[in-house]
Amino acid sequence: MAREDYYPASSRLLRRLQSTMLKTPDRLISVGEMAEIQRASTGVTGLDGMLEGGYPRGRTILISGACGTGKTIFCMQFLYKGALMHKEPGLFLTFDEAPNKIREDLGRFGWDLRKLEEQGLLAIFDATSIKAGVASDEKHAAGVGAVDLEKLFTDVMKTAREMGVKRMAIDSIPAMAVQAGSPSEVRRAILKIAYLATHHELTTLITTEIDEQSASAEARKFSHYGIEEYVSDGVIVLNFLGSEKEASRTLYIRKMRATKHNVEINPVFITDQGIVVKSVEEVFG
Ligand SMILES: Nc1ncnc2c1ncn2[C@@H]1O[C@H](COP(=O)(O)OP(=O)(O)OP(=O)(O)O)[C@@H](O)[C@H]1O
Ligand SMILES: [Mg+2]
Repeated sequence: MAREDYYPASSRLLRRLQSTMLKTPDRLISVGEMAEIQRASTGVTGLDGMLEGGYPRGRTILISGACGTGKTIFCMQFLYKGALMHKEPGLFLTFDEAPNKIREDLGRFGWDLRKLEEQGLLAIFDATSIKAGVASDEKHAAGVGAVDLEKLFTDVMKTAREMGVKRMAIDSIPAMAVQAGSPSEVRRAILKIAYLATHHELTTLITTEIDEQSASAEARKFSHYGIEEYVSDGVIVLNFLGSEKEASRTLYIRKMRATKHNVEINPVFITDQGIVVKSVEEVFG
């Protein structure tokens, strides 16, 4: 794929300038600024350098993309690498895929999630069964039947506190909406997540689906509930162009508060070790 396909609108000069700055991040940031913001490494190869070292800690970041763009892998990679390399406990709240499927699917990357769970460095909180009416046999799980999201998040935070969780992922808002009673309950839940993340200094990734390329105004909106992007300190957009060509996945940092971030549409690869982001220069020269 030609690089122009990624950058139809931006100038070559600007791209060169940005990439030079990215290669020398110490020159981008004043010492005073750096001292203020703590960063959590993203766990995604190539991404920390595009974000001044990582996500601002204690913030809520929206990970947006259509189905199959790698949202679940992206989130678990943040928790897995954080636990493995920095010994920071993580909590994955799943409304979407059952925990055993997650363990199995992500085991393909050589990630032994069970081991981290046994070490108290990872918890997968099962919220897939609320509406199904079937009790989960997971250690950490929502109740069956009419569990309200307020109560669920109280339980999740109790687990997070007990484990000393530093990193959290919630997958996904559309799936949470299916389990919720009403759109207003979803709205309240999103507000609560953002509040709890800040209050407990949890760096939190939340997945959602938007399609910025869609002809439909509804699909193009970042938030289906009108508030996700406002309560989020960052928005990362994953895309899959559906082409057979090698560089058909992209990552775009749409917003990251308190961060001088890369603003390009970067090629992404899902490798045997997980997600890798590259700069345009690396791929296209
Ligand atoms: N081992 C692997 N090697 C390469 N690509 C993989 C591998 N495992 C998964 N993928 C790719 O990742 C995609 C699934 O990623 P993931 O489940 O994170 O997507 P998602 O955005 O969460 O999807 P959904 O919206 O359906 O939940 C697959 O469709 C496939 O294209
Ligand atoms: Mg998913």
